[in-house]
Amino acid sequence: MTSQTATSTAPRTPAAHPLDPLTADEIAAAREVLEAEGKVTEATRFPLVLPDEPDRHTVLAHRDGHPVDRRIRVTLLDTQTGRAAEAVVDVSARVLLAYRDLDAASDGQPPLLFEEYETCDEIVKADPGWRAAMAERGITDTSLVIAAPLAAGHFGVAEESGRRMLRSLTFLRCSESDNPFAHPVGGLVAEVDLVERRVIRLIDTGIVPTPAECGRYEAEFNGPERTDLLPLEIRQPQGPSFTLDGPVLRWQNWRLRLDFNAREGLVLHQIAHRDGDRHRLVLHRASIAEMAVPYAEPDPARNWVCYLDAGEYLLGRNANTLRLGCDCLGEIAYVDAVLADDLGRPETLPNAICIHEEDTGLLWKHTNIFDNFAVDSRRSRRLVISYIATLGNYDYGFYWYLYQDGTIAFEAKATGLLQTSAAEPGAGSPYATEVAPGLLAPFHQHLFCARLDAALDGGGNTVEEVDVVRLPTGPDNPHGNAFTTRATVIADSGDGGRTADPAAGRRWRISNPGSLNRMGQPVAYSLVPESGPLLLAQTGSPVAERVAYATRHLWVTRYRPERHYPDGDYPNQHPGGAGVAAWSRPGEGLEDTELTVWHAFGPTHLPRLEDWPVMPVDSCGFALRPTGFFDRNPALDLPRETGDGSGTHCHA
Ligand code: CO
Repeated sequence: MTSQTATSTAPRTPAAHPLDPLTADEIAAAREVLEAEGKVTEATRFPLVLPDEPDRHTVLAHRDGHPVDRRIRVTLLDTQTGRAAEAVVDVSARVLLAYRDLDAASDGQPPLLFEEYETCDEIVKADPGWRAAMAERGITDTSLVIAAPLAAGHFGVAEESGRRMLRSLTFLRCSESDNPFAHPVGGLVAEVDLVERRVIRLIDTGIVPTPAECGRYEAEFNGPERTDLLPLEIRQPQGPSFTLDGPVLRWQNWRLRLDFNAREGLVLHQIAHRDGDRHRLVLHRASIAEMAVPYAEPDPARNWVCYLDAGEYLLGRNANTLRLGCDCLGEIAYVDAVLADDLGRPETLPNAICIHEEDTGLLWKHTNIFDNFAVDSRRSRRLVISYIATLGNYDYGFYWYLYQDGTIAFEAKATGLLQTSAAEPGAGSPYATEVAPGLLAPFHQHLFCARLDAALDGGGNTVEEVDVVRLPTGPDNPHGNAFTTRATVIADSGDGGRTADPAAGRRWRISNPGSLNRMGQPVAYSLVPESGPLLLAQTGSPVAERVAYATRHLWVTRYRPERHYPDGDYPNQHPGGAGVAAWSRPGEGLEDTELTVWHAFGPTHLPRLEDWPVMPVDSCGFALRPTGFFDRNPALDLPRETGDGSGTHCHA
């Protein structure tokens, strides 16, 4: 493996392991089986094609060399009738296992097709009402206009029920390469029925001047470039310290399986850490299963804006092909992803996943002042597994980190362009920052949801909420200095939704009561949150109903294979109440059993002038830190560094 070589994840045929990524042949076979069953017409599209992953018992029961049943879950959409269906195809036996029609009004809509972005633009620009409204704003040439394809949400409007819809905001450009978000057209929303192919309602709240100033971020508009930056090279002359064997990634004591799907993008399976001669499982599966971006403006032209970038737009399908030296620096291995296009045909996204090592400073150090100031230290290195997806104006980097001390961490990096609206220059807004004259960048949140199938040492797991607590001054605490911890078991599904408390140092300890460390305590990892604001939309609001997962920082639910996504299987135009909200009714015991831990996190973004015209990375994330999982510091065996390269150890 070299930095120049893309590594294919394509497994041998037939698949060797139940969790191997889907292959092009398997995706093609799913479509062929559906064609043979008469389920595919000229109008059929494939908005969602995903592996139908076996449950964890099936995976654990698998033995190398034994045959594997491979299944694909396909969502079909008839673009002429709007009817949708879900099928499960066994692509090993080439048979249709299950097929059911979806009821759009109650099940929700399949995610958006790429071709519907074009459809939306065509429908809006052909609409006489929209053309008249644009003419009133002085715009008759619409060739450079963008009619943005925006997820419609669900607001209980009877005439919208069951329709496959988008809402469209309009942006202008001065040229093909211009930044459209510099020129939002104010007060205008076209509501589009994608099946009837017409605008069903036009909201025009009145003319607002369209901001004229360009928002170009490219070098040719922002020169001269700095000349005082000298080369910084990252070299690994003997190559990186990880190995990839198909989808199996090994680094230091870590081992996991890589996967990549259309909806969640990167998925890590069976994350295990070697401890002596044991491979100890930590997580059965880890992904970012949703991200909601709700906006704060209450006016009728904007009060519906909330995007679900996984459930409505698909993170994986919108992933970038990464470029060496730009997106990732150093000794890189890239892995391709194989997904299905709108027609259900396999397509390869080259260089979708980036794997590399990073120096992260000091791991541990001590100067022994009692022994001639003897120094011992080790540097920390982490393995980075990442991808980047572009969703409209925003670009998101998704970074999983594995550390040598047993820590697993995740970081999301948001960059790209701000979503914008227009106002009278200087008028300002209580819901937005005016980033250029008349150009508002509305307040909004990015609310990610990590899905973590806990599996510490396999077996049953328990989650406790752990706070630090002060103790009252008294006979046992005469100086009032005492403090301790209070651990509360999350015992029932009805108590599974938890809120962070930074003042209490609150963290959630995931343990295995059947596996004890050398001090006789259950082995554990702690989820350490960043504790930002939760969903700010009102309880009971349409957004809160659909994005209920973001009303708590943590949810603990019983693991069930059909519990995939925190906002349900089809959140597009879904009325709400699906996902963790439904799985957190009281009555399911959560102690010493198989659990899924859902963690909601992310920035509440109050745009700054410095976020325009392109946004410096804003990052957020969480960590899973071993807490008595190991019997001692697991990084004592790291080799000593050779310091300046002279061969002299840093150790003195
Ligand atoms: Co933002």
